[in-house]
Amino acid sequence: MKNDVAKVLINEGQIRSKLQELSATLIHDYKDKDWTIIAILNGSLVFLADLIRLIPFPIRLDTIDAATYGDSTLPKGETKILRQFKLDIEDKHVLVIDDIVDTGSTLKRVLDDIKKYSPKSLKSCVLLNRSSRRRCDVKPEYCCFDVGDEFVVGYGLDYNNKYRNLPFIGVLKTECYHR
Ligand code: IMP
Ligand code: MG
Repeated sequence: MKNDVAKVLINEGQIRSKLQELSATLIHDYKDKDWTIIAILNGSLVFLADLIRLIPFPIRLDTIDAATYGDSTLPKGETKILRQFKLDIEDKHVLVIDDIVDTGSTLKRVLDDIKKYSPKSLKSCVLLNRSSRRRCDVKPEYCCFDVGDEFVVGYGLDYNNKYRNLPFIGVLKTECYHR
């Protein structure tokens, strides 16, 4: 699998130290609050798993399944909620977690949906931010790294549902994007 990678953009050590920094900020901000995390499937899974294990107090955790991209590197228009979260979030402090905010369509759709359930507070946290392609007015409160235009894979992010299990974030060789 690593032979398919043209270059590593963010290595495991960089991810680890950024997550330490982020968890310290989140611990400070959510310490005495009744905190619920809603993670957007599937891209956020690896980030989520590593992040929540750095939090030393109980968190309520749920997931939502939303899709904008199919098996392509290009957006396909509207975001759809494929499976809703189940926890009662009324009057709770909710943090939405995703792998990357690109056009912003996914995050905006999910945040708009969650707002209807009257959370006490609602913020978002992403591993990656690509501001160059933003179409929707959405700005995550917590963000680990900025990336450029290149389509990236690894650490949860996929191409054609593969490469999520790479332990770093990288760019594939051109020939791999057309397989
Ligand atoms: P948005 O709705 O355009 O902001 O796109 C967000 C979703 O598209 C993310 O949750 C990712 O699943 C996917 N996505 C966007 N850019 C990339 C990328 O470079 N690699 C892998 N997935 C991506
Ligand atoms: Mg996603």
